[in-house]
Amino acid sequence: MTVQIRNSIRFLLNHRLVELSTVSPVQTLLDFLRLDRNLRGTKEGCAEGDCGACTVLVGRLLDGRLKYESVNACIRFVGSLDGCHVVTVDSLAVPGGGPLHPVQQAMVETHASQCGFCTPGFVMSLYGLWMENPKPSVEEIEKALQGNLCRCTGYAAIVRAAEAISTIGDLGRDPLVLEREAIGQKLAALKDGKRVVIGEGAERFMLPATVDDLAEIYAAEPAARIVAGSTDVGLWVTKLMRNISPVVHLGHLDELRRTIVDETGITLGAGASYTESFPVVTGHFPQLTELWNRIGGEQVRNMGTIGGNIANGSPIGDTPPALIALGASIVLRKGGQRRTVSLENFFIEYGKQDRLPGEFVEAVRIPFLNDNARYAVYKITKRLDEDISAVCGAFRVTLNVDGKVVDAVIAYGGMAGTPKRAGNAEAVLIGADWNEVSIEAAMAALGSDYTPLTDWRASAEYRLLVARNLLRRFYLETEGADAVRLDRKIKLAV
Ligand SMILES: Cc1cc2nc3c(=O)[nH]c(=O)nc-3n(C[C@H](O)[C@H](O)[C@H](O)COP(=O)(O)OP(=O)(O)OC[C@H]3O[C@@H](n4cnc5c(N)ncnc54)[C@H](O)[C@@H]3O)c2cc1C
Ligand code: FES
Ligand code: FES
Repeated sequence: MTVQIRNSIRFLLNHRLVELSTVSPVQTLLDFLRLDRNLRGTKEGCAEGDCGACTVLVGRLLDGRLKYESVNACIRFVGSLDGCHVVTVDSLAVPGGGPLHPVQQAMVETHASQCGFCTPGFVMSLYGLWMENPKPSVEEIEKALQGNLCRCTGYAAIVRAAEAISTIGDLGRDPLVLEREAIGQKLAALKDGKRVVIGEGAERFMLPATVDDLAEIYAAEPAARIVAGSTDVGLWVTKLMRNISPVVHLGHLDELRRTIVDETGITLGAGASYTESFPVVTGHFPQLTELWNRIGGEQVRNMGTIGGNIANGSPIGDTPPALIALGASIVLRKGGQRRTVSLENFFIEYGKQDRLPGEFVEAVRIPFLNDNARYAVYKITKRLDEDISAVCGAFRVTLNVDGKVVDAVIAYGGMAGTPKRAGNAEAVLIGADWNEVSIEAAMAALGSDYTPLTDWRASAEYRLLVARNLLRRFYLETEGADAVRLDRKIKLAV
């Protein structure tokens, strides 16, 4: 089938249609807003997705519904915006100096701003939350603000602002709500099903028309860089100044974001973001709720994908240990050929995965737990929110009626050059009684499974100690111990 090609990207920026036929593959949305469009309300703090000063909303149609999400403009590439609606803080100003937007007014009334540098980012995160949930709980507010840092005000006032918005404004009268249908129609009209190609030679990016088109493009150009949510790749550009082009985007491909649930498990499209996959993943695996909620901040979860977390091959990515312990596999595709690889075998060594040139991750298959299995995941970080793991431990055991271990899968991130199973500790447990003695022996065996590194996140000694203690914690929780009490009362290994 011949694919038609368009040589421009088109998106709505606040109230205007933007069409660009020359744009660099590495131009960030933040630079575009501030430098090309003189929209300076959106700030640059860290340029690495951490502080939230650059937060804007990006609306897109998914299954006919227009959804706005907060994203980090500093690590989002302009090329990924085809068919989207970008809403910046500047658009909240009423021409001629009318009243403040309810979110801004709430920030003023609760004294939620001091130097003001972070304020536009907070306003946009709160605006995104308000649109989805006009009366959020404190927990929901805190979750929505995990990716926004303020060095002066203190977060209590900002949380009060979030609670006050609906007492100040009526969501039903908000411009983005009133214009939703019209905006949705405009975005639908931008979807023409064409492949987008911008630039030439190495300075080029492409937006495949379909997943089949992605497979064709990538098989023909295996040296191209796939970009999904750009929450890893964005930093290679802003921090490492790496040239990543030619680029093939996949974040716009709805087919690659779909989830299928059948009798035996879940199949997640590799392009599904953490936010999109949250209901189905945590609905079937409530043990993953805390982990999912602690990956990045809301903006990173709105952008970052499961496929990117796996394909990146990082030893400290959070989903691989959790998914390995569940026995997950991935579908790799090159052109029309597909193969399935168990996730644990995908990671060969640091920086090396079982992925052929031109092959991409198409889907992740997560089997359901059997009735007798117990499963848990623990993430250890220096800071509770928006921090990368020093160690992430995932555990699954199945016991028989006599309390003997018939199956044990233990996987850690942060303990080796790849996410890795603890074969020796598992061997100690299989066939043994599920009791304190076996757990002590398995904890000791972890010393022969791993030789962790010391880096600025944690020392090697700390990593091994915490890995052992997480295994003990898992055991105690399966025996009914309360996780909160564990921190205070249980004598841990030293
Ligand atoms: C502030 C911040 C906080 C973060 N916190 C966490 C955290 O708590 N836990 C954590 O695990 N990670 C964290 N990350 C890292 C990142 O968000 C995740 O690894 C994310 O899942 C990457 O997905 P992505 O779609 O953004 O990948 P991208 O950045 O688009 O791509 C990452 C790599 O995967 C490749 N790739 C992407 N999709 C595919 C595919 N389908 N097939 C083949 N190759 C592909 C790309 O070519 C690239 O090599 C954080 C990042 C930031 C900026
Ligand atoms: S500038 Fe800090 S998250 Fe973008
Ligand atoms: S008000 Fe100064 S950083 Fe938040």
